Amino acid sequence: MSNTKTPEAKLSSVMEENRLFPPSAEFSAKARVNAATLESLRAAAAEDTVGFWAGLAKQHISWQTPFTIALDERDAPNYRWFTDGRTNASVNCLDRHLGASGDKPAIRFEGETGDVRIWTYTQLHAEVCKLANGLKSLGIAKGDRVVIYMPHTPEAVIAMQACARIGAIHSVVFGGFSASSLRDRIEDAGATVLITADGGKRGGHIVELKKAADEALSGGCKTIEHVIVFKRTGQAIAWNEQLDLDWTTLLAQQSERCEPEWVEAEHPLFLLYTSGSTGKPKGIQHSTGGYLVNAAVSCQWVFDLQASDVFWCTADIGWITGHSYVTYGPLANAATILIYEGAPTVPDAGRFWKIIQDHQVTIFYTAPTAIRALMRLGDEWPEAYDLSSLRLLGSVGEPINPEAWMWYHRVIGKEKLPIVDTWWQTETGAIMMSPIPGATPTKPGSCTQPLPGIFVDVVDESGTPVEGNNVGGYLVITKPWPSMLRTIWNDNERYIKTYWEQFGNKVYVAGDSTHRDNDGYYWILGRTDDVLNVSGHRLGTMEVESALVSHPRVAEAAVVGRPHEVKGEAVFAFVTCKGRRPEGEEAAALVKELREHVAKQIGAIAKPDDIRLVDNLPKTRSGKIMRRLLRSIAKGEEITQDISTLENPAIVAQLQGKE
Ligand code: WTA
Repeated sequence: MSNTKTPEAKLSSVMEENRLFPPSAEFSAKARVNAATLESLRAAAAEDTVGFWAGLAKQHISWQTPFTIALDERDAPNYRWFTDGRTNASVNCLDRHLGASGDKPAIRFEGETGDVRIWTYTQLHAEVCKLANGLKSLGIAKGDRVVIYMPHTPEAVIAMQACARIGAIHSVVFGGFSASSLRDRIEDAGATVLITADGGKRGGHIVELKKAADEALSGGCKTIEHVIVFKRTGQAIAWNEQLDLDWTTLLAQQSERCEPEWVEAEHPLFLLYTSGSTGKPKGIQHSTGGYLVNAAVSCQWVFDLQASDVFWCTADIGWITGHSYVTYGPLANAATILIYEGAPTVPDAGRFWKIIQDHQVTIFYTAPTAIRALMRLGDEWPEAYDLSSLRLLGSVGEPINPEAWMWYHRVIGKEKLPIVDTWWQTETGAIMMSPIPGATPTKPGSCTQPLPGIFVDVVDESGTPVEGNNVGGYLVITKPWPSMLRTIWNDNERYIKTYWEQFGNKVYVAGDSTHRDNDGYYWILGRTDDVLNVSGHRLGTMEVESALVSHPRVAEAAVVGRPHEVKGEAVFAFVTCKGRRPEGEEAAALVKELREHVAKQIGAIAKPDDIRLVDNLPKTRSGKIMRRLLRSIAKGEEITQDISTLENPAIVAQLQGKE
């Protein structure tokens, strides 16, 4: 598989990939965007990029006060969009559909245990208003931060929308993160309310959310004044009379109407913490107006979203994909979304396909890691279900290897459905590069080209654009766009340093390396910073290292990525111990303990797949850890690099696990 190779080998493997899949005439005929429309969109965007976005902002978003300023560049790279306009995200996602689509299902929900619930737009609106009023009754107002730590159920969407309705800034923390990750995020955001649940149901287990929340709060989070608890599982939980409020009781006292708080376009809609090159996750701050524009428009361009669609994005609400393509984009388009709470293989490997059949899903958007995992379980699973409702497939979160792409195309798409491989990031807010399903010929493994209004380039080490095609380098975005991150919460310096400074504050540095092929198509090769992509989830190597060294037995740790058939990348840790290096059973026991320790510090997704206990880490004479050497070792490659600068060359055999 190409994803188990080095960047160089990966590049040559994708370059051998020359299959081309033109859009089907049948799809193009009905599509919102065909080749001719795409061409005119691109032409309009090239001619007047800011005017192009301003036009879309007026067309797709309802404004209480229309904007007259489209882009304010005075504090670039802190760009501002639609600054004198006022709007509200929840009104755009709910109120404006109540007339024509009030009785239309907004959410079809299926729990892991098979319970199904449906919310029409009218019902969803009422619930959102009740929670919004509940928050207001607790004194929550515009600009206050609310952390949401919920299972993947509609209540998570309701919580987000309720915050948006009153101008509170939400920060969703993925339910798989540990108590200590939750605590860090609450503290960094200075949140006053936490919305959580007793538990969630996933993988046949109960995820103990309230217990983790209690643990987080017991060690800090002094700003939290209230904890709203939704009862999902009904399990016994500890109850703190000072803080805890029952969701149902709180909502029962509230009106189904809540006047929205009209906020300026730049008012932060949410923070979402993501991993970077340091041990501390960064709170990516998104705006209200600009964010909504890209989230809404991309649904129409990329997913060809139509009124009759049932749109299933499998991402958890805790990730950016769950924000833009579960909560905000599809609802802004009055679509019906499907939310499934659980794991893809419960009770068996046919669950996803059965859901598609039962709910007549038309658009299915998932991650390559899920595609690879389902592919390995055998074609008989999808073949046992009627998938004929599907009309479009999507992929997001990591490079999709051509083999997985072809399986998706052949077995799920029956060789006729378009596949959109969408490249974007937490920071970009919405899809930046993707095929347009009715217009762009696709190539397995390529996200093809930027969307209209998005301008990307390839630059070299010095930031100089690499001319022509069949070239590679750093991926940059050369013009601002409405849904770009505004800053890092409480750390604008880090914002500038991370995304702009490297190439003179002129272009946005994505942190990915890319190849542009002879047709001008982009192929994402991977991250250029110390960030791993494990099962489509971003994980900072430094975060895992800090988790490891917080264990009393650990002296030093170095974490690198290793290619993994299903996860894309796996976490590989080299660890030195305080005192003697344990061996045999003692070593095995410590490794097990360290894996659990990392899960406790960060969350199960960060558990290292491999931990190798060694006497020393490979360092240069100036004391720098030789990460490139560790990466080669983790991959099991021959050591070809120069190790003459290594302080302790004898360590190599031990690092390789040979002694
Ligand atoms: C990677 C997820 C290749 C990339 C929306 C990016 C991809 C990081 C793709 C962002 C894709 C995302 N092809 N790589 N289609 N989509 N990536 O912030 O490395 O969780 O920088 O946002 O995922 O991850 P994030």
